[in-house]
Amino acid sequence: MKFFTFLASWSAGAAVSLVHGSAIPPTSQKHFNHPTVGIITSRQSDTATTNLNYTSLSHSAIEALNTAFYNTTAARWSTPDAWWLSGVALTHIINYSIKTSSTQYLSQIDDIIAAQRQPLPWWPQGGGEFRADSTDDTGWWALAMLRMYDLTGNSSYLEIAKMDEAYMWQYWTDTECNGGLYQEIKGGLVYKNAISNELYFTLAAGLHNRLGGDTNVGTYLEKAKKSWDWFMGTGMINEYWLINDGLTENENDRSKCFSNNGTTWSYNQGVVLGGLVELYKATANKTYLTTAVTIAMAVITDKDHLSLDGILTESCEAKGECNNDNQMFKGIFASNLAELASLFTNGPFRGYLEQNAKSMYQRDRMTTTTTTTTTTTTTTTTGGGNGNGDGTFALDLYDVQWAGPFIASSLAKQASAIGLLVSLI
Ligand SMILES: *[C@@H]1O[C@H](CO)[C@@H](O)[C@H](O)[C@H]1NC(C)=O
Ligand SMILES: *[C@@H]1O[C@H](CO)[C@@H](O)[C@H](O)[C@H]1NC(C)=O
Ligand SMILES: *[C@@H]1O[C@H](CO)[C@@H](O)[C@H](O)[C@H]1NC(C)=O
Ligand SMILES: *[C@@H]1O[C@H](CO)[C@@H](O)[C@H](O)[C@H]1NC(C)=O
Ligand SMILES: *[C@@H]1O[C@H](CO)[C@@H](O)[C@H](O)[C@H]1NC(C)=O
Ligand SMILES: *[C@@H]1O[C@H](CO)[C@@H](O)[C@H](O)[C@H]1NC(C)=O
Repeated sequence: MKFFTFLASWSAGAAVSLVHGSAIPPTSQKHFNHPTVGIITSRQSDTATTNLNYTSLSHSAIEALNTAFYNTTAARWSTPDAWWLSGVALTHIINYSIKTSSTQYLSQIDDIIAAQRQPLPWWPQGGGEFRADSTDDTGWWALAMLRMYDLTGNSSYLEIAKMDEAYMWQYWTDTECNGGLYQEIKGGLVYKNAISNELYFTLAAGLHNRLGGDTNVGTYLEKAKKSWDWFMGTGMINEYWLINDGLTENENDRSKCFSNNGTTWSYNQGVVLGGLVELYKATANKTYLTTAVTIAMAVITDKDHLSLDGILTESCEAKGECNNDNQMFKGIFASNLAELASLFTNGPFRGYLEQNAKSMYQRDRMTTTTTTTTTTTTTTTTGGGNGNGDGTFALDLYDVQWAGPFIASSLAKQASAIGLLVSLI
């Protein structure tokens, strides 16, 4: 492991203080005001290239997400798309609400949680509370519940997150691979992978940090450490300090597993950073931060692949083959990198995120002359400059390649863009 000099520069105050809730009073407003399709008034000038206002750009992007993709009846976005995507989109909007103290989305957030915590039509045996047919799907929504606690101070959200932790832990086995959680439940327990396990130790350490005085608090930390120690020993973190997708079990001895050398998706380099920050906050052990910084540096210095010419790039982009899941990943990396960066008074991370946001804003955003078809609306705007000439503005929709060009958006592409923009607030 290399030593990065800025590691010496962390801000002790920031490092030990957790965000505590109660920032925003609960809203009594019960209905989400659906914005007028195709028209938003908060779009920043199309000519702005420096000093981007990330609060304003995040807001415009969230408005566009809702306009183009929110299904009020289902209380989530793009119902044909995977359910976990709405959990991550929700987390980014909760983050926006925490960082800006905006109350605008609170009633929508309440509606989404009330609807999605019901038993899932495709997995009623989970019993609801986000207990899904895979451990990673549960993990995303459980992390959203931790953030809801941070936003509101309401411990009901921690109770839900505790049920989710218990549910996920059921799928940990000590025998196969000497530990680890299985990902898929519905299709049979066959694959121990990076994402489910990263989400798990992030959740367990996150619960520990928020459950002061809880009798199980030590247990959560023990399980988080056990899970991380196991993770480190699996070989999923490869020789370049990048994390492969998952593990292959040795057919003759299932206790022995090895990295499948699968794709180093950006979200697997991201969630781990948030998890290590939680472990650091729980223990004040700086080894966790050194490891997190080493992984983050491995990504941002990977100029031929993950950070192609300095822009975060998924390997599927070159072939135009990013599926809906893949399209969500980069914003998850960005928000977790920002969380790590917040512990330091300097270092290269903020600059990296800004460089990405500027590129995305300038090269990957729907312009006023773009025609795009989304699942729920067709938005056609004409003209140049800041709008279409009659005081209305195009939606701030984004595509998957942050180096451009814009062709079409989707729930996942848009939510990922929001993850990046919110990370800079
Ligand atoms: C950025 O935008 C927000 C929301 O529109 C606004 O409240 C804030 O004043 C802006 N900041 C600057 C520096 O212009
Ligand atoms: C919105 O959700 C409802 C309820 O799940 C569903 O019946 C409807 O088809 C969805 N609408 C779209 C446009 O997908
Ligand atoms: C806390 O959150 C739960 C779940 O959303 C809700 O039912 C309850 O009314 C909230 N409590 C307070 C004091 O707002
Ligand atoms: C992964 O790569 C390592 C090192 O190159 C190799 O030893 C191992 O056999 C590979 N694993 C698989 C499943 O191909
Ligand atoms: C800090 O964490 C590392 C990695 O888990 C561990 O090896 C080390 O013993 C810990 N240090 C202390 C003082 O607990
Ligand atoms: C939400 O914000 C926190 C920091 O407050 C960060 O750890 C997390 O990664 C963010 N977003 C998501 C999708 O988890």
